[in-house]
Amino acid sequence: MSLQLLEGLCREEMKAIAKLSPKSSSKIVKIGAGGDRTKLIDVVAEEAAISYLTSTGFEGKLISEELGEKQFGNKEDPILILDPIDGTTNAVRGIIPYSISAALSSGSNLKDIYAGIVMELPSGRIYKALRGGGAYLDDQKISINNTPALRHALIGIDVNVRRDKTKIEQVLPLLKEAKQIRVMGTAALELCYVASGGLDLYFDNRGLLRVTDIAASYIILKEAGASILRLDGSYLDSPLSLSERVSLVAGNYNLCIEALSKIKRF
Ligand code: IPD
Ligand code: CA
Repeated sequence: MSLQLLEGLCREEMKAIAKLSPKSSSKIVKIGAGGDRTKLIDVVAEEAAISYLTSTGFEGKLISEELGEKQFGNKEDPILILDPIDGTTNAVRGIIPYSISAALSSGSNLKDIYAGIVMELPSGRIYKALRGGGAYLDDQKISINNTPALRHALIGIDVNVRRDKTKIEQVLPLLKEAKQIRVMGTAALELCYVASGGLDLYFDNRGLLRVTDIAASYIILKEAGASILRLDGSYLDSPLSLSERVSLVAGNYNLCIEALSKIKRF
């Protein structure tokens, strides 16, 4: 039922953004609740999600990247954590992929998430998981790779820092050790590529990711057998709030620990 709701929401968003011209989709319309400049494509996607939730009679709280928090009915849960478009820069520049990330939680922390969907766009492929039910790409069960060492690994990483350029220096030893590297611009989906074994590891030390970027991937990764760690090696959790920012490494545990051992500590 919960996955059906999230899948319906993604499909409505996909239909709505398909009507936009590439030029109009990049128009800046406001500053979103997450602090970024919101583009037309973000608003159109988010409005489609809200109309869909209203039409289904959804009751609970929505936390969404552009509008912040919105209450539907009187119930406090579930909490639906949404990034209407993850990878907006790719989307408005005609670069693929980008994605939609939607998750349901029974409480106020990442660890309370029990369902998640990430829709890869423009393909429409769906990564999904229900707590205890395994992780899937469309109808195929997925799991992480057991790649034993970074020297054999294809890793995804985000090096798009704004001010603090030391974050790039910090990961140089990791970049030198990995067999191959990808920087794709849609964290939600890159984490799902770890879940399906496309990537062996994902690393982001910037402290810029929001819970909206990672909520759905968090349960998908867990159900696919991944560890999701903070940079101090502890297991990642975070309050479901747009003001929280996180760094993380995700993949098989030993590879995560090797990656953390490569990080320069200033
Ligand atoms: C962004 C993407 C990107 C990451 C940014 C995120 P958005 O999400 O996940 O990969 O570099 O930090 O903000 O802004 O396109 O939803
Ligand atoms: Ca977004």
